Amino acid sequence: MNILAIETSCDETSIALIGAKGDKLPSFVIHANLVSSQIKIHRPFGGVVPNLAKREHIKNLPILLKRLTNKVTLRQAQGIQDTQKIKALMKQVDMVAVTVGPGLEPALWTGINFAKELAKEYKKPLLGANHLEGHLYSFLFGNKKNVNFPAIGLIVSGGHTMLLLMTSLTKWKKIGETRDDAVGEAYDKVARMLQLPYPGGPEVERAAKTGDPTSIQFPRPMLDQKNYDFSFSGLKTSVLYHLRDMTHHEINTPFVISTEQRNNIAASFQAAAIETLLQKTMRAVKEHGAQMVLIGGGVAANKSLAGAFKKACKKEGVAFIPPARNVITDNAAMIGASAYINTLQKKKRRIVAQSNLSL
Ligand code: KG4
Ligand code: ZN
Repeated sequence: MNILAIETSCDETSIALIGAKGDKLPSFVIHANLVSSQIKIHRPFGGVVPNLAKREHIKNLPILLKRLTNKVTLRQAQGIQDTQKIKALMKQVDMVAVTVGPGLEPALWTGINFAKELAKEYKKPLLGANHLEGHLYSFLFGNKKNVNFPAIGLIVSGGHTMLLLMTSLTKWKKIGETRDDAVGEAYDKVARMLQLPYPGGPEVERAAKTGDPTSIQFPRPMLDQKNYDFSFSGLKTSVLYHLRDMTHHEINTPFVISTEQRNNIAASFQAAAIETLLQKTMRAVKEHGAQMVLIGGGVAANKSLAGAFKKACKKEGVAFIPPARNVITDNAAMIGASAYINTLQKKKRRIVAQSNLSL
């Protein structure tokens, strides 16, 4: 079946058309996965401003839908009017899916209202999807490896850090999560301390490339504890104290550091964050006899993290399946995939914004 999916939970507006088939192990093809990023709008504020995000989603959704129709409608549809193109597109669609949470409430509502209208006008079933499930299932796009359970799933995004023990594609137990900041949030905050622009993850990764990861011994929070929980707030504070001590500055005034110092801090912070995630994940693999490791969420785009996981999984003899690069950060294709898997389970969600929806 073809699914038209919509994602507006944070600062990316995205509309996708995907094809989905299969039940035990579903497979997906992406016909189009359009993302309009609001990075430039939020950058001056150092983070996402919910009402600006809402305004941008409202503006971008119809633009993306139009671009999608131009991309996927048949050749004979060229030269016809926009409404007719949308009609031609919707003829190919079997279901509309939209993110209902977690995320910023005003932002979620824009996608929900847009999806509701489309579904009503073209008489299509409408399904609500969980954004975190989307990240979890993003490994299914383009995967050629065997999928075996039990598996350990790690979600690392701007708002979440959690470890899951999965006994099947649809059955899992949360075995650990962050007690304070999400790892992506720590990246963003450290970036700000280093005067790198928002969003900080890719900027810190770039700075870290030429830094020495062993130059500063930042703490590896909670590694000595037997649970699978994380804490990144302490690590972030250690970076702040290091900067203060290094520059003899007050915390609230901007730190003046050299590029070399900045790169070393970025690399050392990243080493601590990755080691914490990796060690807890690999301990869970061993203790639960997992056969594969899945990762999802924006931080999974980090090449050092993916490299470290790949190496450790190889050593342990378990499969490591990261998402294809085009579905790692927020996108609607993964929302379509999770809605499809929900329909297989006959799971229906309420079509209202649920900002704190969990897994
Ligand atoms: O999954 P995502 O796109 O949105 C949320 O659901 O939160 O994740 C965004 C987070 C941000 O904190 C961003 O800084 C981080 O993912 N991120 C990265 C990288 N790319 C994005 N963190 C580290 N390295 C990266 N390359
Ligand atoms: Zn996300």
